[in-house]
Amino acid sequence: MVKIRVLQRVLVTGGAGFIGSNFVRHLLAARPAVTIVDLDALTYAGSRENLRDLPDPDRHQFVHGDITDRALVDRLLAEHAIDTIVHFAAESHVDRSITGPGAFVQTNVVGTFTLLDAARAAWRGRDPGGVRFHHVSTDEVYGSLAPDAAPVAEGAAYAPRSPYAASKAASDHLVRAYATTYGLPVTISNCSNNYGPYQFPEKLIPLMIVNGVLGKPLPVYGDGLQVRDWLHVDDHCAAIVAIVERGRPGATYHVGGGNQPTNLELVGRLCALLDARLPASPHRPHAGLITHVVDRPGHDRRYDLDCGLIERELGWRPRHDLATGLAATVDWYLAAGAWLAAIRDSDDFRRWLTLNYADRGAGAP
Ligand code: NAD
Ligand code: DAU
Repeated sequence: MVKIRVLQRVLVTGGAGFIGSNFVRHLLAARPAVTIVDLDALTYAGSRENLRDLPDPDRHQFVHGDITDRALVDRLLAEHAIDTIVHFAAESHVDRSITGPGAFVQTNVVGTFTLLDAARAAWRGRDPGGVRFHHVSTDEVYGSLAPDAAPVAEGAAYAPRSPYAASKAASDHLVRAYATTYGLPVTISNCSNNYGPYQFPEKLIPLMIVNGVLGKPLPVYGDGLQVRDWLHVDDHCAAIVAIVERGRPGATYHVGGGNQPTNLELVGRLCALLDARLPASPHRPHAGLITHVVDRPGHDRRYDLDCGLIERELGWRPRHDLATGLAATVDWYLAAGAWLAAIRDSDDFRRWLTLNYADRGAGAP
């Protein structure tokens, strides 16, 4: 019989980023008794604007700070009597880990260590059933799969290939080491590519929508036949709630959307949606904007998670199918004028586009 933990005071790290802000919104709506402390450093990827439409803002307290700041983390855990940590904060973009890996080691490895060690100290002597450290990780830790390889189940060997994936793998190992060595009650989720509202437009789906609307090239790395699984962010949030409430301490759960399009297929679907939504656009057909550019170094060919465990143990499965989810996401970005313009027109984002795309050939911004 699975014991259900009652969540009360939750520390969310990275709650001003894409998945974290969706999680804050989801948890406030789903659990009316929960209060949230949201620790976020507001890097280029985080914004208070991502938290503008919270359902019950009085139960959410934002703290601007860094997860590597041990004194701050100690204070938050004690002052708010935190019983659950849901750890999203990270440097998350693979291309940025190639141009600047240092920040990935600092936040993803040192930051995760800082949180783990603070939780161990704060929860010493507590009933392990009453507290939980949940670490949000990625399918990229397993490395690149061959086209015909079977889906990867929990417990498979790690083979990370980018600095981002290596830093997430290191953090997963630290989380498991704290469970084994100190008995810290942890869970880990490794999930596939998320999509949905508030995703920073450096990532494939929002970048293609933004460039498509403006009639700019849609830069597809290499042959575009790489395969990803796409998970709607709200399905991901529901999976995390299920894991922190009912998951076994020490367990790892895979979370995926159950689809395997190539990047070219996915971009083609986005172009068809833009054609349908923008019948008067001079850029139709948007597929004419697709431009093959120099590939990402070490580009993983395919990821595919076996998600049977979370379905069997916790009854979770994705509710959004890719066609409906993509259509809603395109509509969200088409309506996100001021939010999007603030990022798109910033010097910081323009610098990133130049740094990442200028030397890739035909797809320069
Ligand atoms: P994101 O880049 O959109 O947001 C990251 C957030 O963390 C930002 O708000 C940023 O300000 C904050 N942050 C960064 N460094 C920090 C620090 N040192 N201290 C405090 N806050 C800091 O990322 P995301 O896409 O929402 O990803 C969230 C988590 O999910 C990450 O751990 C990522 O590895 C994991 N993940 C993401 C995906 C995906 O498809 N986006 C898939 C699998 C796993
Ligand atoms: O798989 C989970 C991971 O998904 C997460 O752990 C990462 O945090 C998240 O960023 C994401 O990583 P990807 O590298 O898969 O996502 P991205 O959106 O950057 O790229 C998706 C695919 O599209 C990938 O094969 C690279 C390709 N791509 C990406 C960009 C930005 C292009 O072809 N052109 C582009 O301009």
